[in-house]
Amino acid sequence: MMFDSYAIHAEDLRRVFRAKRREAKKQKREIVALDGISFSVGRGELFGVLGPNGAGKTTTIKILATLLSPTSGRA
Ligand SMILES: Nc1ncnc2c1ncn2[C@@H]1O[C@H](COP(=O)(O)OP(=O)(O)OP(=O)(O)O)[C@@H](O)[C@H]1O
Ligand SMILES: [Mg+2]
Repeated sequence: MMFDSYAIHAEDLRRVFRAKRREAKKQKREIVALDGISFSVGRGELFGVLGPNGAGKTTTIKILATLLSPTSGRA
């Protein structure tokens, strides 16, 4: 891949949130927020991110902004 030609290049991003165990059942819940997404945005390109509530938009933006680490994949 020619990383230099993109403003953003996301490759197979995956993010799993491990919710704290419930007090009652004490089971760990895993929430797969991103299940391997890849996309590229060129320099000067307008790129919209649309999706229903919980689709993973904010998680994606946080990873791109380095506020959150992906479970796997890279950007
Ligand atoms: N800190 C967190 N801990 C546990 N689960 C989380 C956390 N942040 C997000 N999630 C879960 O990850 C999934 C994706 O959430 P995200 O906030 O990225 O979606 P979104 O597309 O931004 O939704 P919205 O349109 O409501 O803003 C959801 O199931 C959400 O509940
Ligand atoms: Mg959001």
